[in-house]
Amino acid sequence: MRGIVYTGEAAEIRTDVEVRGPGPSEVLVRIAAAGVCHSDISCLDGTIPWPTPFLMGHEGAGVVEEVGSEVTQVKKGDHVVVATISSCGKCRWCGIGKTSWCRSTLANRHEPFTVGGVKAGNFAATSSFAEVTLIKEIQAVKIPKDVPLTSACLIACGVVTGLGSVFNRANIQPGQTAAVFGAGGVGLSVIQALRIKAASRIVAVDAVAGKAELALKMGATDFVNASEVDSAEAIRELFPHSAEMVRGPFGAGGVDWSFECVGHPKVLEAAIEVLDWGGICVSVGQPAPGVTVPVPITHLNQVDRGLIGSRAGGVRPQHDIPMIVQLYRQGLFDLDSMVSKTYPMEDFHTVVDDMHHGKLARGVLTF
Ligand SMILES: NC(=O)c1ccc[n+]([C@@H]2O[C@H](COP(=O)([O-])OP(=O)(O)OC[C@H]3O[C@@H](n4cnc5c(N)ncnc54)[C@H](O)[C@@H]3O)[C@@H](O)[C@H]2O)c1
Ligand SMILES: [Zn+2]
Ligand SMILES: [Zn+2]
Repeated sequence: MRGIVYTGEAAEIRTDVEVRGPGPSEVLVRIAAAGVCHSDISCLDGTIPWPTPFLMGHEGAGVVEEVGSEVTQVKKGDHVVVATISSCGKCRWCGIGKTSWCRSTLANRHEPFTVGGVKAGNFAATSSFAEVTLIKEIQAVKIPKDVPLTSACLIACGVVTGLGSVFNRANIQPGQTAAVFGAGGVGLSVIQALRIKAASRIVAVDAVAGKAELALKMGATDFVNASEVDSAEAIRELFPHSAEMVRGPFGAGGVDWSFECVGHPKVLEAAIEVLDWGGICVSVGQPAPGVTVPVPITHLNQVDRGLIGSRAGGVRPQHDIPMIVQLYRQGLFDLDSMVSKTYPMEDFHTVVDDMHHGKLARGVLTF
């Protein structure tokens, strides 16, 4: 079968990929559509180190092909979104609904594939850039058949991460204000979730002017072009401390929440810089391991500012994915407009190129 393999040097479109059959609690999924998330690009440039060779991709949806002997949640022919969090379902963290804290989800790498007869690993327990992939039953989240798989696939990573960062990691109250840095697949999902939570003002920040239109359509109230102005200064001007002063003591003024959805330390610095007293910054974007950011400590502890992380939006896949599908069907969460373009999987390198040129909200590969 076909698949996109990262060899350590390049992403290769291969036709000599094989996957083993399912164990008792495993499921084989025939992938219909897979979104290209920035984390896939980060595998190519070394930002996310991963043992090679491996089958790429982690944002996928498809049709159940075969199930193991003990699988009860899905059956052949069901449509599923593949959750990237492969939790154990048994530990203390799973027990309190913090599935993304389940220790078994880390370094959860297997080698269910061969490429040209040589063993190959999976990526993020998913490998959605393979025609058929092998996952655990707990990752297979059934969805209704009337939801287009080209839209549904986005839920698996970008959407659960963005929406979950707002719904699960943050605690937005109606009427609060927010700034969202990065209006890609993740940032646009943050913006939509903030709109659903009735944030009063949502400032989208991106370095590409062309991202404004969709960000505003998704619910942003303002757009700041980070390639033209200092984004932190521009946001401060929008939320001054008083009529006389843009900034008050301990940096007063600014927004209640900020979300860094780029993965750059300078952007995270700006996202902290724009917070009002009591404001909280959610760090979502992923730089290389070890990258740090300087933070003025008294600006945190004297005025209750905070910085928190978000791993996959604290997703509880079996709860959150059906909820997102419900929001989609109610017309509250727009998945379809986030699919800028679909490409045959052979055109993966064109998607990467289009992403680098800022042309896409999400590019989706079809098989
Ligand atoms: N925490 C998690 O679990 C998790 C999950 C998914 C993705 N991510 C990470 O989130 C980040 C965003 O992912 P994505 O798929 O939305 O990426 P994307 O490429 O679709 O979007 C990133 C956006 O940031 C913009 N941008 C780049 N530099 C900027 C700057 N200096 N200022 C403002 N905007 C800038 C780009 O123009 C683009 O619109 C990546 O770092 C990705 O690895 C993290
Ligand atoms: Zn991702
Ligand atoms: Zn667990």
